[in-house]
Amino acid sequence: MESDWARGVDIDTPSAARMYDYYLGGGHNFAADRQAADAVIAAIPDLPRIAQANRAFLRRAVRFLVASGVRQFVDVGSGIPTVGNVHEIAQQLDPAAATVYIDLDPIAVTHSRQLLAGDPRATVLRADLREPDELLARLREEPAAGVVDLDQPVAVLLVSVLHFVPGEEAYPHVAALLDAVAPGSWLAVSHSSVEGFAGLGKDDFDSAEEAYKKTTTPVGLRTRAEIERFFAGLAVADPGLVWVPEWRPDETVGPFAGEPWRSGMLAAVGQKPAT
Ligand SMILES: C[S@@+](CC[C@H](N)C(=O)[O-])C[C@H]1O[C@@H](n2cnc3c(N)ncnc32)[C@H](O)[C@@H]1O
Repeated sequence: MESDWARGVDIDTPSAARMYDYYLGGGHNFAADRQAADAVIAAIPDLPRIAQANRAFLRRAVRFLVASGVRQFVDVGSGIPTVGNVHEIAQQLDPAAATVYIDLDPIAVTHSRQLLAGDPRATVLRADLREPDELLARLREEPAAGVVDLDQPVAVLLVSVLHFVPGEEAYPHVAALLDAVAPGSWLAVSHSSVEGFAGLGKDDFDSAEEAYKKTTTPVGLRTRAEIERFFAGLAVADPGLVWVPEWRPDETVGPFAGEPWRSGMLAAVGQKPAT
């Protein structure tokens, strides 16, 4: 039976947001999502642990950014809320920290809206990274404008989302976002990499890619050099672009400790010059 939160949503076409929710053990997914996700897991059995390693990177990146003075977060491709959401991590460190979540997926937006009801320091927008002008216009109007001030530095989080915008078109989109934000703003990226998944047999990789072709956002991996290009003109924080478990690890023993390359994902955080 269709739940209230699913009304009007195409539940027969798998969505990357809901497949990711399934990898993380969440309950906001449908049969078509689970079928597609199971096909990906059959090809890449590590995928649920890859998703966990990616979330752990996101949490560490937010803590690092707050420690670096960031008080505003724009989380694009934020997904369905799960444990350790950006606003929760940031507000634990500074209750004044502000967060705008943005996602394409209607279920992700509905659940984020429910979670954030009554929180004046966080909101959610449905917008598309592939339409940055429209996305920026939405950020400059209410309700987002009451939460983040684009004239002040923000951290733009593009965590595990850029591989859903394959090819050259992603570069001008990211550049448009970075042009629009204030000097001293930050960019945090995690990205599935060609090198990371090179250990897979070709048939396995092809069947994972095939499963994503049936979703609303087909996937396209990039090489390390192609991921580095998103940071052109930014000062990249130590330790640079590394496997997600290697990015400023904390005392938590997360997935792939000792074999970080198995995460398949590279991550970095960089800052736009302050003047
Ligand atoms: C793998 S999830 C990542 C969620 C979260 N950022 C994280 O790392 O835990 C990717 C998310 O990006 C969203 N997404 C994909 N393409 C997008 C686009 N063009 N614009 C906005 N969101 C997009 C999907 O709906 C999904 O929620």
